[in-house]
Amino acid sequence: MGSFMGQYPTSLPVVLLVSVVLLLNADLGLCGCFKRIFSFGDSIIDTGNGAYAGRNNPGPITQLPYGMTYFHQPTGRVSDGRVIVDFYAQALGLPLLPPSMPQAGTGQFPTGANFAVFGSLALSPDYYKTKYNFTMPMPWCLDRQLDSFKMVLARIALGEAATKSLLGESLVVMGEIGGNDYNFWFSARRSREIADKYMPDVVARIGAGVQEVINLGARTVLVPGNFPIGCVPSYLSSFRTDNSADYDEFRCLRWFNDFSQRHNQALKQEISRLRAHNPGAKIIYADYYGATMEFVRNPHNHGIDDPLLACCGGAGPYHTGKSCNNTATIWGDPAKFASWDQIHMTEKAYSVIADGVLNGSYADSSLLHAC
Ligand SMILES: *[C@@H]1O[C@H](CO)[C@@H](O)[C@H](O)[C@H]1NC(C)=O
Ligand SMILES: *[C@@H]1O[C@H](CO)[C@@H](O)[C@H](O)[C@H]1NC(C)=O
Ligand SMILES: *[C@@H]1O[C@H](CO)[C@@H](O)[C@H](O)[C@H]1NC(C)=O
Repeated sequence: MGSFMGQYPTSLPVVLLVSVVLLLNADLGLCGCFKRIFSFGDSIIDTGNGAYAGRNNPGPITQLPYGMTYFHQPTGRVSDGRVIVDFYAQALGLPLLPPSMPQAGTGQFPTGANFAVFGSLALSPDYYKTKYNFTMPMPWCLDRQLDSFKMVLARIALGEAATKSLLGESLVVMGEIGGNDYNFWFSARRSREIADKYMPDVVARIGAGVQEVINLGARTVLVPGNFPIGCVPSYLSSFRTDNSADYDEFRCLRWFNDFSQRHNQALKQEISRLRAHNPGAKIIYADYYGATMEFVRNPHNHGIDDPLLACCGGAGPYHTGKSCNNTATIWGDPAKFASWDQIHMTEKAYSVIADGVLNGSYADSSLLHAC
């Protein structure tokens, strides 16, 4: 993985190296203000934790075609290539974030770590079991990621002052998280009304996570919202109807997109409340919904053919019908698709979303100029 870490070859002449650095500064507005990134979330940004946790029973994501773009090998990312935090790291001049789990007990994580894990929920699985007698298929949740983070912090920064100073010069990316609290529920065909009822608890859990990292010393926290799930091939296929009123002008499922927007609205309110309580911290909302709708509306501006078709899958509607694995069909160049495996997006789609957050088009302030 060393060759992906953006290290310059030592033989490069110094003059060239200096001009490369200056060029990067000019192009990307690098300010060098973040020494590290710590991130939390689910399969949207997992860079290898889920694959590591499941190493005794490896699944499709540890095999090609996962990783076919950029890395040319599977890395545990649930995409053909890089995921959103990879683009943040590269734009901020940092190496790609290592997953936390493989080095949880030993790593110094000098440029940060990614605690996100495939299948993670915001709320704990116990919440759903106790309140709704619903068994979530995955054990991970935000609490466990934060516990693991605190254990790492206790090892790499000794004492409260050192922790505050280490986190003060770090960027924290809190999500996307919470999507699975709805995905697993809807895919089990549970009540949509009840999902609306527990939404405030999902949002409150994300908000509590933001407050927790601020209490530990974080000064810049990026909080992404949920995606337009009504435009996701697995939703489009599972909830297909003959009623044209169920679809919006972009052929996405109206109810599910409205649901995501309600979640995002509540999350933005929670962020306003957190800002008022934490005047010393910068909390940036990242509009993943709007950034995704950008290529749903104008796919051709980004070289995408049909934004509702998956690149990897079967011959069913929206290219569903077979899960993405080494026997599935690859329907073309992943760079021409927004959806990779019917649920997760392609590197191409993630790069468009990351650009929108970095340059400020889809964030309430540009991440590149956050310092
Ligand atoms: C909880 O769900 C299980 C099925 O998953 C069912 O067998 C059981 O009766 C339910 N319990 C209650 C109290 O509803
Ligand atoms: C690939 O997925 C299909 C289901 O879509 C499954 O039948 C097959 O066993 C999987 N193959 C591998 C190698 O995982
Ligand atoms: C910012 O990124 C978005 C998404 O990729 C793009 O549409 C927009 O043109 C960019 N804006 C600027 C000012 O670079």
